Amino acid sequence: MKIIAIETSHDDTSVVLYEDKKVLLDLSLTQTEFHKTFGGTVPEYAARKHSDALGEILEKLKKEDLSDVDHIAYTKEPGLIGSLQMGRLFAYGLSFALDIPIYPINHMYAHIFAVSFEYDIEYPAIALVASGGHTQLWKVDSPNEIKLLGQTRDDAAGEVFDKVSRKLKLGFPGGPAIQNKALESNNPVDFKIQLTNDYDFSFSGYKTKVINYIHNLEQKGITLPVANIASGFQNTIVKILVDKTKMAVEEFNPKSVILGGGVAANDLLREEMKLAFGNKALIPSKKYTTDNAAMIAVRSHIVNGDK
Ligand code: KG4
Ligand code: ZN
Repeated sequence: MKIIAIETSHDDTSVVLYEDKKVLLDLSLTQTEFHKTFGGTVPEYAARKHSDALGEILEKLKKEDLSDVDHIAYTKEPGLIGSLQMGRLFAYGLSFALDIPIYPINHMYAHIFAVSFEYDIEYPAIALVASGGHTQLWKVDSPNEIKLLGQTRDDAAGEVFDKVSRKLKLGFPGGPAIQNKALESNNPVDFKIQLTNDYDFSFSGYKTKVINYIHNLEQKGITLPVANIASGFQNTIVKILVDKTKMAVEEFNPKSVILGGGVAANDLLREEMKLAFGNKALIPSKKYTTDNAAMIAVRSHIVNGDK
């Protein structure tokens, strides 16, 4: 099964040529450096950059033998509307030119199934997907039976990493910046967690706690213990993510516990998930955690492979 997959939901223009759980060719271009100047993705610029990048990628694709590609898969939703639209139009153009079918793929389901490159998912599974835009717990009974258990009521996990990082002047994207700074910590700040008894997440209160803590020290003229704040904040978010997943594992006793989304690149989260769920924990290589078209391809292979 050979697939061209396109993922343009956010700030990466990712196009891959895929065959049977292998990426044959990766033509992805990232915009992260460009958006750094603004401290976050600017949707209007992102869409324009996708348009330019897709033009470049098309020139490279033209040099490939695409005669045996079975279908096109693209991210339909969720994501930035202008960015998604660029990918969709590109996908339709390719489908028309190559005269092959086109399938829309849900970005969140692709994050869940990104582990399929390296693991066979055993069902039922629980999946934790944490990214810049979403934090969700899913119950996955089969590739086509996916039920949302809970999600964030306010900010997403990645989003609070980005916001706290900006406040600590550590840069964008915040996740890797905070993780690196936390390595220097010797006494992490304890931001006291209160876990609710449901599957929803709420992170904005912790973001405010951290920001208030920073303002308080600044007003007193005390030098910020940046590494200890970064580490304490990281501990908080990771503990909430893992504890909520534990609740779902206790209730549903799944055979696999899947981790996905950009925040899944976090080393502490990866370690804690392994510790909590042992062999059941399916943790993808970091290259499959952040947005990429490979996960769109593998998800499409799994659900559209027989069509
Ligand atoms: O899934 P993703 O690539 O894009 C979205 O669909 O949002 O996730 C990006 C998010 C960003 O908020 C980024 O700060 C976060 O993932 N992230 C991390 C790490 N690497 C990326 N968060 C915590 N620790 C990391 N190492
Ligand atoms: Zn994503």
